[in-house]
Amino acid sequence: MIWKLLLALTTSTAHVLAIGTPLGFGSSTVGGGSATAATPASAAQLLSWLADSTPRTIVISTTYDFTNYYGSTSGKICKPWTCSPNPQFAIDQNNWCANYQPSAATGTDSWYKSGTGYSYLLKVASNKTLLGKGSSAGIKGIGLLIQNADNVIIQNINISDINAKFVWGGDASERLPVTIVGSTHVWIDHCTIKNVGRQFIVTGYNPAKAITISNNIFDGRATYSATCNGKHYWVALFTGSADTITFAQNYIYQTSGRGPHIGGTSGYTQYVHVVNNYFVSVSGHALDSEVGAVTLAEGNYFNTVTTPSMAGTAGNEYFIQTSSDLSACQSALGRTCQANTLLSSGSVSRLNSAVLTALKAQSAVTRYSPMSASAAASYVQANAGVGKIN
Ligand SMILES: *[C@@H]1O[C@H](CO)[C@@H](O)[C@H](O)[C@H]1NC(C)=O
Ligand SMILES: *[C@@H]1O[C@H](CO)[C@@H](O)[C@H](O)[C@H]1NC(C)=O
Repeated sequence: MIWKLLLALTTSTAHVLAIGTPLGFGSSTVGGGSATAATPASAAQLLSWLADSTPRTIVISTTYDFTNYYGSTSGKICKPWTCSPNPQFAIDQNNWCANYQPSAATGTDSWYKSGTGYSYLLKVASNKTLLGKGSSAGIKGIGLLIQNADNVIIQNINISDINAKFVWGGDASERLPVTIVGSTHVWIDHCTIKNVGRQFIVTGYNPAKAITISNNIFDGRATYSATCNGKHYWVALFTGSADTITFAQNYIYQTSGRGPHIGGTSGYTQYVHVVNNYFVSVSGHALDSEVGAVTLAEGNYFNTVTTPSMAGTAGNEYFIQTSSDLSACQSALGRTCQANTLLSSGSVSRLNSAVLTALKAQSAVTRYSPMSASAAASYVQANAGVGKIN
């Protein structure tokens, strides 16, 4: 890591590298490697550079606005939530309203196409680094699709404003800022994501392996909310058939659910190390380990979180709190483990020892050196999100 920093400082901008190295599962991610850094002249050029087959280091320092890139459209919507004020609406994609919300009120509305599906998302191919420089590098109105790619780094990018009023309830495309499907070696670091229709980050059904999601801000402050309280419900969804994900040092606030939701399909397995994150002002739930989940939660700080982890869901989760949890973890993993801290938050009781049995064979977890929850709380508030590095 030191040599990389020195290299970045002492050479010209032609050899710009990401700052630091990924923790945990994504640790060998190199993105575009030593590809010469260049700045796209337009949104169209950014789109083409991300998608082509050339290894690239793409450096941006302003916001590329895709909101109206593909124009807008209008159509049928429904209103699955009846709470007030300002429930989110749902676009009637593939007859979703009639199929899943037959009693919801319907209407018509308009939205921007750039947010609405696989055909519009910004495709990110293999061997790419997208680096934000300074504090105003961003992508607006569109999400990134990292599909069947190997080696992608997205660092210091502000991602925002993707049809935040609407949800489409299907699974194929839902206005997602970052979608990782069937990809390996992906590092999403120091990004800030806000004001979107659906999850801030998801994996699909094909495996997402060797992934690190670190030092990001998931800002849940929302005008339109599925829970009608100004807090975004859809935070993160990890559902691949064989995901390995380190979710570390992220700052999650003013949300109301799915932070993250892991699993849900039997026969699939997601190894997710949720470590040293800082959650604050969460009116619903944070962790939700469904069938297939193998979740180790350690060294996280939950401040005013109604439900730090859902009870009774079918996945395996080991949520460390007591000295006996710590010693079981330490004897399985062979290193110091860290307890989660719950401040003004609900209680948790999730201790599936199958998690320790599975993860003791994963060096990304056994070699991880977590901070204490209180150190993580300060570190994350000072360091997460866009504008803190580069
Ligand atoms: C990415 O880079 C690696 C190493 O330089 C190379 O072997 C691989 O073929 C590249 N992948 C693609 C899809 O271009
Ligand atoms: C991120 O983008 C949003 C929406 O464009 C903007 O309000 C916010 O100031 C940006 N954040 C940073 C850190 O640049």
